[in-house]
Amino acid sequence: MSQNKTILSGIQPTGKLHFGRYFGAVENWKRLQEEYDCLYMVVNYHAMTMPFEAKKLAENTWELCFNLLACGIKPENLFIQSLVPEHTELNWILNCFSSYGQLTRMTQFKDKGGQNEDFISAGLLTYPVLQAADILIYKAGIVPVGKDQEQHLELTRDIAQRFNNFAGKEFFPVPEALYTKVPKVMSTADPTRKMSASLGDKHNIDVFADEKRIRKQIRSAVTDTGGDGGDAGAMSAGVANLFSLLDAAGRSDEHAALMADYESGALRYADLKETVADGLVNVAKNIQERLTMLKSDRRAVKDQIKQSSWEIRQRAQETMKEVKGICGLVR
Ligand code: TRP
Repeated sequence: MSQNKTILSGIQPTGKLHFGRYFGAVENWKRLQEEYDCLYMVVNYHAMTMPFEAKKLAENTWELCFNLLACGIKPENLFIQSLVPEHTELNWILNCFSSYGQLTRMTQFKDKGGQNEDFISAGLLTYPVLQAADILIYKAGIVPVGKDQEQHLELTRDIAQRFNNFAGKEFFPVPEALYTKVPKVMSTADPTRKMSASLGDKHNIDVFADEKRIRKQIRSAVTDTGGDGGDAGAMSAGVANLFSLLDAAGRSDEHAALMADYESGALRYADLKETVADGLVNVAKNIQERLTMLKSDRRAVKDQIKQSSWEIRQRAQETMKEVKGICGLVR
């Protein structure tokens, strides 16, 4: 990865920030800031593609901004998509460089469209084109995302190449997905499924929950699924998930010690759970303290996000000027 590449990623203002999202994405975003020019955005336009409520959308957008800052995302790197309306302007132009057939084949479109058959918005279909605009408008080269976004990234690359062909030059860098090895955090209530807000409260642990709740959720984590037993000697999904949470929480010494106990057959699940809970509570505590501080002056924080969005918008406007020139659009 070259140092001069811009990193861009987006996160939807839906649901809460649980440990799956924190360890799986946000913590990695935070680390990347040390080395790269990073742009992180709350994608509120994308959140309109499924049924939504206006009041909730506004609340969730700000809530997520505060939460991301509390997690250590730098304010100058964070912005709100709707404060840079050029994303939607580029979206239109890129629609005209996107294959309709390819869009209808996106698995996310098929999945989400299938969930809501009586009304499927055209926005759901063109969702990945807006995502391409998000990336290309900053000429970003690296996009940290989960594997679930692979197809969308592939589409972005196709659009960039088609546009570059039209322009007759390498105008947009063809971006690369960055799949950093992040822990895959499973639901503690059902360790065969990914931790997720949409599965319901017991399937995710909120980074902003109080200590009592975090401990309670870990204490009630499924360990042995019972029933068929599976391979004798193979670690159950629930226990493996607790170990990976321990590792994610930065407790590698305790992880090693408890793993040795597991291997010798001496591990007590209660001890493992206690240690995992300590680790998560500690991670949560630091983040929650920062959130309290940020919330003591909400106004200042919102102004800061508006300011960074305004500055980032200048970069988007530069690209739009060039794009319109290339396309022969009168300005
Ligand atoms: N579709 C992404 C997701 O659901 C969110 C997203 C929107 C995004 N725009 C982006 C991710 C641009 C990376 C780059 O996770």
